[in-house]
Amino acid sequence: MNNPLLSTERTEVHIQNRSLLEPVMDYYRINSAHLSPWEPERDQSYFSREAFQERLELSERNFRGGQSVQLAAIDRATGQLAGIANFTGIIRGPFQACFLGYSLGESFQGKGYMSEILDKAIQYMFKEQKLHRIMANYMPRNKRSGSLLERLGFEKEGLARDYLQIDGKWEDHILTSKIRSE
Ligand SMILES: CC(C)(COP(=O)(O)OP(=O)(O)OC[C@H]1O[C@@H](n2cnc3c(N)ncnc32)[C@H](O)[C@@H]1OP(=O)(O)O)[C@@H](O)C(=O)NCCC(=O)NCCS
Repeated sequence: MNNPLLSTERTEVHIQNRSLLEPVMDYYRINSAHLSPWEPERDQSYFSREAFQERLELSERNFRGGQSVQLAAIDRATGQLAGIANFTGIIRGPFQACFLGYSLGESFQGKGYMSEILDKAIQYMFKEQKLHRIMANYMPRNKRSGSLLERLGFEKEGLARDYLQIDGKWEDHILTSKIRSE
C-alpha cells in the first residue's frame, strides 16, 4: 500500500489506488445490503474485478490531473477499509468547488469514524487543494447523513426535486455546502 495522504486518530487515509483492490472489493461485498438503499442501482458488471480495477486506476489518474480526490480510510486496529469519501467534479476558475459523497462500512457506523475522516479531509481540501466550496447533498430520510453534515458545519441551501436516481428511483435531495472560512 502506498503512503497515506492523511492520518486520523484511528485511520490511515489513502487516495483510492490499485493497491487497494482487495479491501475495496471486500468493502462493497460485505456492505452491499447496507449501502444499496443510498447508492445508484448497479448491475453485476459494476462489481467485477476488472471494473473495480479500472475505477481505482481512474481515481489515481483523476487525482494526478486535479479532477478528484477519492479517499479510502483504513482502520488501523483491524486493517479493514472503514469508509470511502469522494471529492469529485473539482471545478476551478471563479467557482473553486467540488462535490462530496461518502459511506462507512456497517460495522464502523455510529462510532464517529466519518466525522473523524471528513474533518481531516475537508481541512486538506480547503488548505492544500485550495477549494472554496464543498457541496454535499442527501435524501431527507437519510438522517445519519444529515446529522453528519450538520456536525461538520455544512449549511442547508435548498431542496432539489428528483435530484439523483438512487436505488432505481429519482429522489429529492437537501442541498448543503461548506465554505472555507478565511
Ligand atoms: C452517512 C454515514 C457515513 C454516517 O455515519 P455515522 O457513523 O452516523 O457518522 P459519524 O462517523 O459522524 O458518527 C456519528 C455517530 O457516532 C457516534 N459516536 C460515537 N463515538 C463518537 C466519536 N468519538 N465522535 C463522534 N461521534 C461518535 C455519534 O453519537 C453518532 O451516533 P448517533 O447518530 O447514533 O448519535 C453512514 O450512515 C453511512 O455510511 N450510510 C450509508 C451510506 C450513505 O448514506 N451515504 C451518504 C449518502 S448522502
